[in-house]
Parts: sequence; structure tokens; C-alpha cells
Amino acid sequence: MIAQSIQKHRRYFAKDSPDAFERERLALLTEVADPITTRRLSRLGVGPGWHCLEVGAGDGSVARWLASRVAPEGRVVATDLDTRFLARHGCPTLEVRTHDLLADDLEEARYDLVHCRFVLMHVHDPVRALRRLAAAVRRGGWLLVEEMDTAAFGAADAAHPCAAGFDRRMRAMLAALRTTSTMDLDFGRRLPALVEEQGLQELGHDATTFTGRGGSPLARNRQMTLQLLRGRLVAAGVLTESDFDDLHQALEDPSFWFVGFTSFGAWGRAPGEVVTHYSI
Ligand SMILES: C[S@@+](CC[C@H](N)C(=O)[O-])C[C@H]1O[C@@H](n2cnc3c(N)ncnc32)[C@H](O)[C@@H]1O
Repeated sequence: MIAQSIQKHRRYFAKDSPDAFERERLALLTEVADPITTRRLSRLGVGPGWHCLEVGAGDGSVARWLASRVAPEGRVVATDLDTRFLARHGCPTLEVRTHDLLADDLEEARYDLVHCRFVLMHVHDPVRALRRLAAAVRRGGWLLVEEMDTAAFGAADAAHPCAAGFDRRMRAMLAALRTTSTMDLDFGRRLPALVEEQGLQELGHDATTFTGRGGSPLARNRQMTLQLLRGRLVAAGVLTESDFDDLHQALEDPSFWFVGFTSFGAWGRAPGEVVTHYSI
């Protein structure tokens, strides 16, 4: 029984969410996060001819962006446990693989760029997963990892009528998730030190915190994520149905501004000369 429940929590929390729902939830996330990601990737110089690995690609928005940047000679391999949104992209430079970052083989020293966003926070051994990502980078290639951190999450204006209730409920929910799930909601802040441990050079890191108001893409993404967690947290007695209704209402209200999550980015370059490209 205990083993079963650990196993259950090791599964990606949105694995069983219905297609249309999950597609929209991921699209809202990419609408918020892609501008920061593409800025970070552009700074690394990704361009024609590069061979890239996009791990835990989700709806594939970053993989498609990379594929257009590296065309026509470059290649992008996009992996995910769940590739339901990655098929039928019609992009000749993009290969899709169903792949578990912790369990399945990954080529070593192969890619000019290995990128992963908001995935390590969901796996039960993120440090081993990061080591595998770093090992896939070829000499002279780049690793860029981006992860969330929810420590700043909360109402922007303590005087707003929704603020106190919103903060209290979110605190209760985040505390429960920190102790009962493999989702590491504070993983982002660990990235600079963990990436440094991978023996890379030209290290860098930054962080961007997203703010939003009720009804914004960020708010709608948070509402949908809450909806996925609702049944489990109500059953566990962490929050009531009416708490979730109140959170939902605050996130609908355009007069309610909140601080969302922070996206930490950390990057580094594998030592050694860049070697000639070969086909993948
Ligand atoms: C929050 S979504 C992020 C998707 C995408 N990277 C983005 O930022 O838009 C997390 C993704 O990680 C994938 N994932 C979770 N565990 C994984 C694992 N062990 N190996 C590969 N992908 C995994 C999920 O299927 C999901 O697509």
C-alpha cells in the first residue's frame, strides 16, 4: 500500500489530464514563459546547423522555435514521457521521441545545446536527471536549464479584498505539496549551484519573476493547475471545495494582481573545442 502510494506520487501530476485541457494549460504556460526562454537561448547563440535536445518538451513550442532557428542543416530532438502534443508538427528538422529522462538511454556528448524547462522539478531524482542532461552536451556545446520557484507567489496588494484569503490558501497548498509530492516547488533557486557542479565553463544564471492579474494567461494557467490538484488536496483535508472556489474567483478578477512564479535559468558550456557536426 505504501509502495503503491509512493509510486503514485512519482508519476507526473498532469499525466492523466484530458487532451484539450492539458493542451490549453501548456499553451498558457508557454505564452508566459517562452519570451524569457527564447531570450536566454538567443543569448547562447543557437543558430543554423546546431543539433539540439529539448527534454520534457510539453506542447513543443520551444522545440519548434529551435527547429526554425537551426534549419536547414541543424536538427532538434524533442523528448517527453508523454508525446501526445508533439506529433504532426510537419517540421523536417524536428524528431520526437517518447523518453523518460531518468530511465531511458540518452546519447552522451552529442548535442550543441541541451535545454530543459520546468521538468526537473517534477522528477523524483532531479540531480541525477541534471547529470544526464549535462552528459549529453558535446564538447563546446551548451546546457541551459530553467526551473520554477514559487517562493514569491502571493497577492501583490495586501489591501485587496481577495489578498489575505488568497495568500493563506496558497500557503497551505504549497506547504502540503512540499511535503506530499515529488513536485519540488523551490527547485529553481538550486539551479546555479547544481549546474556549476556539472564541470561546465562560461557559467551564467538569471531569474525572472512573472506578475499577473486575474484573467491573464498566467492566472488561467494557475487556475488550471489548481483544478488538477483540487481533488487530491480536498481529499487530504488541506483545502475545502469552497477554498478552491475562492482561489478561482481571485484569479478571475482583473482588479486582483499577484506575484506568480520565478523562472530561474542556469547555463554553462562543456569544455573543449567544438567538433565537426555529424548526422543524428
Ligand atoms: C510543466 S511541463 C513543461 C513542459 C515544457 N518543458 C514547457 O516548459 O512548456 C513538464 C513536462 O515534463 C514531462 N516530464 C515529466 N517527467 C518526465 C520524465 N521523467 N522524462 C521526460 N519528461 C518528463 C511532462 O510530460 C511534461 O510534458
